[in-house]
Amino acid sequence: MSRKLRIGALASGGGTNLQAIIDRCQDGSLPAEIVLVISNNQDAGALERANRAGISTLCIDHRRHASREEFDRAVVGALQEAKVDLVILAGFMRIISEIFVEAFPNRIMNIHPALLPAFPGLHVQRKALEYGVRFSGCTVHFVDIGTDTGPIIIQAVVPVLDADTEATLSARILEQEHKIYPRAIQLFAEGRLRVEGRRVSIDPPDDRCPPSLVNPAIH
Ligand code: GRF
Repeated sequence: MSRKLRIGALASGGGTNLQAIIDRCQDGSLPAEIVLVISNNQDAGALERANRAGISTLCIDHRRHASREEFDRAVVGALQEAKVDLVILAGFMRIISEIFVEAFPNRIMNIHPALLPAFPGLHVQRKALEYGVRFSGCTVHFVDIGTDTGPIIIQAVVPVLDADTEATLSARILEQEHKIYPRAIQLFAEGRLRVEGRRVSIDPPDDRCPPSLVNPAIH
């Protein structure tokens, strides 16, 4: 049997994405194991979820480090010591530096609750509503040195409804996040992701897309 992919996860918040991935590792549908969860926030729900699942945790407080680079060196050191193959950012509220990206080239993934390159950064569900887009969604991408700019692996489209509030739109997007993040990790674990420049191809491909999505639907 081939060795399971070793994942290191970074999270600052509640950790529902982390939980979705833990669940898929535990039920055996994802050939991977989360070996370490790191947070910069000791109160992160993600740490509690990891503890409950018997995963090692580490809190590295960014306020105790003089610079972003110094904090990143501590995080990278812990991830290397844990011999992780892939790093996943799951609601990690820190911008990571070049030191981190260079330590794990094309081996760091992030989930973002919008259809990149639209609405990078923070509070993006609110921004999508305010802008009046008909579709938003979520994106799993490899991390490069920009913010939310790396090569895109998977996106899910979520229609924006007239009655939506920031909370209802966020909840529908989150539901899709919980599906596409484990899937992107699975493709990585299966060795099916090829990165060329900005484009990520999936080999062999997953070609079951509808030809288009229209909102409001035309009947
Ligand atoms: C998600 O919306 C994710 O896209 C964003 O931060 C949120 C984290 O949620 N990066 P959770 O902690 O996984 O519940």
